[in-house]
Amino acid sequence: MTKVLVTYFSSTGNTKSLAEAVAEGVRSVEGVTCELKTVPHTTNDDWLAADGIIVGSPTYFGQMAGRVKQMFDVTAQVYGKLEGKVGGAFTTSGGAGCGHETAIMSILTAMLVAGMVVRGTTEGPHFGPFAVGQPNDDALQAAREMGARVAGLTKKLFP
Ligand SMILES: Cc1cc2nc3c(=O)[nH]c(=O)nc-3n(C[C@H](O)[C@H](O)[C@H](O)COP(=O)(O)O)c2cc1C
Repeated sequence: MTKVLVTYFSSTGNTKSLAEAVAEGVRSVEGVTCELKTVPHTTNDDWLAADGIIVGSPTYFGQMAGRVKQMFDVTAQVYGKLEGKVGGAFTTSGGAGCGHETAIMSILTAMLVAGMVVRGTTEGPHFGPFAVGQPNDDALQAAREMGARVAGLTKKLFP
């Protein structure tokens, strides 16, 4: 069974809604299991057990939130062991053009440094799903599609 972890931090619930839609997308792919966890409850063992990891964060100052960065910093203890796992990222922000793409890129950058595999898409949000405030139907749909896309790639690499 291919395993995907969706881990997110959310203070006021916007990123949580998007995370649930991403997880729904992951679960729509046959043969893939999905664990949905909050960042404070995510351990290095969770990272090691997963074949694919999708990380969600609110946009804080155009980047991932400090608590999400802290999780990445802790994964330094297993540096090298995440190599080749599949990654993905999503965010919610307070405004359009207020840093959501740079926030997603900050997560993808950390994943690339860890040797993970990330992919974009020619359709929909190229870097990863996002919402301004509480996700609307379009944002939730993009999140489901991204969850399914990452799950599909993970299944190909870790059948
Ligand atoms: C410390 C802090 C920094 C923030 N920085 C930004 C920002 O740079 N750009 C932006 O659009 N929104 C910013 N916001 C707004 C949040 O990204 C937005 O409200 C988000 O949807 C909150 O997600 P949550 O409901 O999952 O906690 C910031 C909020 C906080 C508390």
